[in-house]
Amino acid sequence: MSHRSIKAVIPAAGLGTRFLPATKAMPKEMLPVVDKPAIQYVVEEAVAAGIDDVLVIIGRNKNALANHFDRVTELEHTLEQKGDTSKLERVMHSSSLADIHFVRQGDPKGLGHAVLRAKKHVGNETFAVLLGDDLIDARDPLLSRMIDVSQAQSATVVALMEVDSSQIHLYGCADVVPTGEPDVVRIKALVEKPSAAEAPSNLAIIGRYVLKPEIFEVLETTEPGKGGEIQLTDALQELAGDEQIAGPVLGVVFRGRRYDTGDRLDYLKSTIQLALDRDDLGPELAAWIKDELTPTLV
Ligand code: UTP
Repeated sequence: MSHRSIKAVIPAAGLGTRFLPATKAMPKEMLPVVDKPAIQYVVEEAVAAGIDDVLVIIGRNKNALANHFDRVTELEHTLEQKGDTSKLERVMHSSSLADIHFVRQGDPKGLGHAVLRAKKHVGNETFAVLLGDDLIDARDPLLSRMIDVSQAQSATVVALMEVDSSQIHLYGCADVVPTGEPDVVRIKALVEKPSAAEAPSNLAIIGRYVLKPEIFEVLETTEPGKGGEIQLTDALQELAGDEQIAGPVLGVVFRGRRYDTGDRLDYLKSTIQLALDRDDLGPELAAWIKDELTPTLV
């Protein structure tokens, strides 16, 4: 994968209330998915797309996140002395992935507010936003496609996914028109968490965005919206309503595997699915599910 000069921003300052009490003293982005915290998958995805500069927006429980991407020389030394090279490599991997920076959000006033905290680090450049609790399977690259579409059309690009209409109230929803490319749509309007009756489509915004720097000016004047929070969707809606501001807002429709680790049930499903896919754990886990678990369910 070629190097990309764009930066990645990972907002991880939410309160994670759906996961309390696990998230009382730890950000939800640090919850382990098999044997890595969710956010490590997200950083690895940015690196796989060629990005080597990552800014994490952190909240009140900042230490766990910062420590995870830092070196722990004592642990490295102990593993080295034991000659346990495979564990040593795993420990060192997270601290050598990319150039990782941190900025505080202070009060968690919403995703839009978190993204605005990246303004100084990002400067006047297009950048990627990856939500730290939303995992995209490494076998289904999405971010590279979004960056290519953004560069080719000088556009803001949002990742969209078809969801069941009973689920649309959990997401931002896009009103779209087709373009010449089958996986790309033009976004006419966006609505944050609409009821099924109000929703203009079943295309939900998922946690990947390629944004142009004009978004910062828009966010500076975006009023609190749904839930009293400054919503990124509201700022994107303003861009979609006036192409003079920053060009078109496009959606890349993702049809691959996505794991939402911010929701308890989806988190459990994600952990099982990703463990089943692993050579070291999958076969034994599958046998246990089939032989011991499944018979107790029928
Ligand atoms: P969510 O709405 O899923 O996160 O935000 P939340 O508010 O932490 O979750 P619940 O509903 O209370 O369980 C989407 C993303 O935006 C980040 C979150 O960390 C998550 O990655 N976020 C949200 C911020 O960084 N700051 C905020 O003020 C709000």
